[in-house]
Amino acid sequence: MKKHDILDAKKLPGEEESELSLRPKRLSEYIGQKELKDNLKVFIGAAKSRGETLDHVLLYGPPGLGKTTLAHVIANEMGGTLKPTNGPSIEKTGDLAALLSDLEPGDVLFIDEIHRLPTAVMEVLYGAMEDFKLSILISREGGAKALNLPLPPFTLVGATTRAGSLSSPLRARFGISAKIDFYPPEDLLKIIERTSKVYGMPLSKEAAELLSKRSRGTPRIANRLYRRVRDFASYDGLKEIDEATALRAMKALKIDEMGLDEVDLKYLRAVIERFHGGPVGLEAIAASIGEEMTNLEDVYEPYLVMSGLINRTSRGREATDKAYRHLGLVYQGRLF
Ligand code: ADE
Repeated sequence: MKKHDILDAKKLPGEEESELSLRPKRLSEYIGQKELKDNLKVFIGAAKSRGETLDHVLLYGPPGLGKTTLAHVIANEMGGTLKPTNGPSIEKTGDLAALLSDLEPGDVLFIDEIHRLPTAVMEVLYGAMEDFKLSILISREGGAKALNLPLPPFTLVGATTRAGSLSSPLRARFGISAKIDFYPPEDLLKIIERTSKVYGMPLSKEAAELLSKRSRGTPRIANRLYRRVRDFASYDGLKEIDEATALRAMKALKIDEMGLDEVDLKYLRAVIERFHGGPVGLEAIAASIGEEMTNLEDVYEPYLVMSGLINRTSRGREATDKAYRHLGLVYQGRLF
């Protein structure tokens, strides 16, 4: 594992399995996102009472906030089977046709990273979503032949970290579109306590509070930090995770009080020290710290913006006075 992977909320290889046992099965077990849950409860209840499938659902927001978990919950609540896949693995219209022709009535087709579907595939998806029809062209000797197949009623749940990258015809075909927000520390505390029960190593209230504040508003990171802290506790032969162990683990992993890691700090220092606090383009920041632009934009920046450390303006990124204070620097901008 690279040093900073622990706070990279993107899924790591193999992480899906450990998330599986942690995953709540019902809406009532899903912690936080109250407004979204309340709305889904109505839409799911209404569809069930009419004996219909749920309208297609688009879930968008930063990685690690529980979009996949929610897709599982939706399938469970509707009593359908979840068929998971992701945008990059559907390369050709034939790949999508294979998935669609395998669906049973009431299935939930989950496409993660739906913004990465090729355009030709997306066009086939439009018809499937709108009319439950599969229309593809198959090439054969002497020309192409149109194939039209009826599909069983199903629900598409699409997830994306970049709602802005979806074409408007695709966005328009989702009857339900929901943004998942970062979780406040109170919700993360409950998630960490639930996780500690699943793993069977309890933690003190103080330790749980410490982790909840350093998890960047992100359940996947909270669960990961819990597992690492549990390693430190097990190694020391402890039966319970205490605050001192949690703190020691955070120091060893170089995660500060706000949950920032070395990449965040390099980012902030670059904006402040090399670019005079900004505004500066993302490309220049990425080049100066040797990180990929999309990684900074999708994984790091949403939390830096949410916690008020940077502003994204039309002229570029700017460090806020909170960022200067967090780094122990004096703000050089208009206030002084
Ligand atoms: N695990 C990940 N996200 C969760 C959530 N919102 N509620 C309960 N467990 C979770």
